[in-house]
Amino acid sequence: MGGPYPLDSIITGDVRQLAQAIPDASIDLIFTDPVYDRIEDYRWLAETAARVLKPDTACLAWYSTPLLFETMQALRESLTYRWQLIHYKPGRVKEKFGAAGYCKYEGLLWYDKGRLPRRKFMDVFQSMPFQSAIAMCINHEWAKDPDALAKVIGAFSHPGDVIFDPFTGGGTVPAVCKILERRYLAFEIDPATADKARARVADTLPLLDGPSNNGFHLTAAPVGLWDGEPESGAAAGEP
Ligand SMILES: C[S@@+](CC[C@H](N)C(=O)[O-])C[C@H]1O[C@@H](n2cnc3c(N)ncnc32)[C@H](O)[C@@H]1O
Repeated sequence: MGGPYPLDSIITGDVRQLAQAIPDASIDLIFTDPVYDRIEDYRWLAETAARVLKPDTACLAWYSTPLLFETMQALRESLTYRWQLIHYKPGRVKEKFGAAGYCKYEGLLWYDKGRLPRRKFMDVFQSMPFQSAIAMCINHEWAKDPDALAKVIGAFSHPGDVIFDPFTGGGTVPAVCKILERRYLAFEIDPATADKARARVADTLPLLDGPSNNGFHLTAAPVGLWDGEPESGAAAGEP
């Protein structure tokens, strides 16, 4: 499924070369956090997503607000724009974010390969106060809040799905995948960062009874994104 790469592993190296060995149409979801000012990496991400994603699946990527226009242009060369999701971060956040000093949100671009089945969704979601700032102190300079990622991964995938994170940094996507019983394929170019991410995932415990029978996905879903079952007959222009 992961080609030469065993599933549930964090591979050290340049994903732009290594991902060539990932089989076509083998991935259920891409969820990643590239280096924001490398627009060429978003272009590579979209091209790769168009190849490795299964039909009618999604590619989700965090972005930098000042570079939103360029980022969207790069992604839409190979994928179809679907929407933008906003993670509202209650509590104080690191000052270096945003001209205002205390930017309380971060945005996630949602592109489709084909078309993920349409469902009603909420495009703003919230996580526990202060978690983003804490994650950045503990896991990686640019670490994401695992609670926020759990909401997104819970909403966009099912247990057993394969999630590809090309730019994994501190390994937040792999750690959340382990908790939520998703499979993952992750890459990190910096060896020391990759080692730290692997150690973190090794220390991450899966939920006691699994997400499918302890109700976790039920608690995640309402704040997460879906509000109902898949719909048919979307009005033109609606996501
Ligand atoms: C913004 S950070 C990701 C942080 C992550 N969201 C977390 O929660 O820890 C992006 C990461 O991508 C890695 N990276 C950049 N270019 C890469 C490449 N070509 N291949 C693999 N990893 C790369 C960087 O070393 C960095 O750790």
